Amino acid sequence: MVCRIGVLASGRGSNLQALIDALKNGEDSYQIEVVISDKEEAQALIRAKKEQIPNIFINPREFSHKEEFEQAILEVIRKHNCNLICLAGFMRILTPSFINKAGVKIVNIHPSLLPAFPGLNAHQQALDYGVKYSGCTVHFVDEGVDSGPIILQAVVPVEVDDTVETLSQRILKEEHKLYPLAIKLIAEGKVKVEGRKVRISGQVSKWASGRVN
Ligand code: GRF
Repeated sequence: MVCRIGVLASGRGSNLQALIDALKNGEDSYQIEVVISDKEEAQALIRAKKEQIPNIFINPREFSHKEEFEQAILEVIRKHNCNLICLAGFMRILTPSFINKAGVKIVNIHPSLLPAFPGLNAHQQALDYGVKYSGCTVHFVDEGVDSGPIILQAVVPVEVDDTVETLSQRILKEEHKLYPLAIKLIAEGKVKVEGRKVRISGQVSKWASGRVN
């Protein structure tokens, strides 16, 4: 069964584009049913439109309570029969009520090696801390901020002279590979959550090959 995803995005939408590009390159384990944004001008909506993917702006200002805004999102998700919600640069924290009511798994991509540097300005946080490596994380969404079980991570080096711009470009390249891969694995039913741990069936540890002892 093909996984039907609903994407929530607030901005540029380059991760959405990576998901679309994977489909164009033959990926057939998932399809993007709808793209929803809280920003009318989001490039993500334009990208979806170009691909004839249903794209919907839901104006948070039209609702007096966050729960109502979130309910409107869920109605669209349900209308499109989505069985997975993918956050791709969605700049709002979802309430526990949304997560509980969604009835489907929610995944997110974050530009750091969680649990380091959750929340906003992850690249700046990494630079300020002086870490030598950073990267990106795809994780399930739970009630905390960037705190759900980790599905996949990719690592990049941090150079002494990096700026937010150079580091985010390096990480973004990895994000664009990691997110489609994570969603493919979920869509293929290979991802199992065991408490905080995520087991991916068929995945041979990348540390196993070439290891001498
Ligand atoms: C990405 O860096 C992602 O990790 C974070 O928000 C950014 C979204 O970028 N959650 P884009 O809109 O997908 O280009």
